[in-house]
Amino acid sequence: MSAIVRLTTADLEVVTALEVRAQPLPWSEDQLLLELVHDDAQVLGLLDQGTLLGFVAVRHMLDEAWILNIAVDPTHRRAGLGGRLVEAASAAARAWGCSSLWLEVREGNAPARALYGRMGLSERGRRPGYYAPIPPSTERELAVLMARDLVPARAC
Ligand SMILES: CC(C)(COP(=O)(O)OP(=O)(O)OC[C@H]1O[C@@H](n2cnc3c(N)ncnc32)[C@H](O)[C@@H]1OP(=O)(O)O)[C@@H](O)C(=O)NCCC(=O)NCCS
Repeated sequence: MSAIVRLTTADLEVVTALEVRAQPLPWSEDQLLLELVHDDAQVLGLLDQGTLLGFVAVRHMLDEAWILNIAVDPTHRRAGLGGRLVEAASAAARAWGCSSLWLEVREGNAPARALYGRMGLSERGRRPGYYAPIPPSTERELAVLMARDLVPARAC
């Protein structure tokens, strides 16, 4: 039985290892640590019998919440875990009193864009050349800005 839990600095090593397995250009340990200790952020992990299968980092800024990172272990994809993590980030955002959930995604990241569309996020803008190239490409990549409105649990 898997569960969503809030991760702490004690989980830094395991979350960094998952990030390296999951992402073509992984965040550094320091970037992950910053979200684990930031007052306005939460890193939520999906644990199955003590094994971390995925995580989402979400931060709030005024009445907006932003998913800054999300990853599911490559061996556990297409099993609904990404959807559960987006829902967990939405619940954290509502509890903060946020009225919308935002994120940026690479234009070419079809799995993530499909997941977000299915979770009710829609395109709200584009940032050309936002992302560093993923080798062997040398072209910077456009970011698609996506958002979904939320009903906050309380006022900000
Ligand atoms: C994006 C990611 C988190 C999705 O995680 P996941 O656990 O596989 O997602 P889910 O199983 O919850 O997928 C939910 C829905 O999203 C869509 N989706 C997910 N992966 C997909 C894929 N490879 N191709 C097409 N649609 C996909 C589907 O609609 C899917 O529902 P379905 O399986 O019933 O068709 C995962 O692929 C990942 O970790 N990618 C690397 C990191 C990354 O790109 N993060 C996003 C940065 S913005």
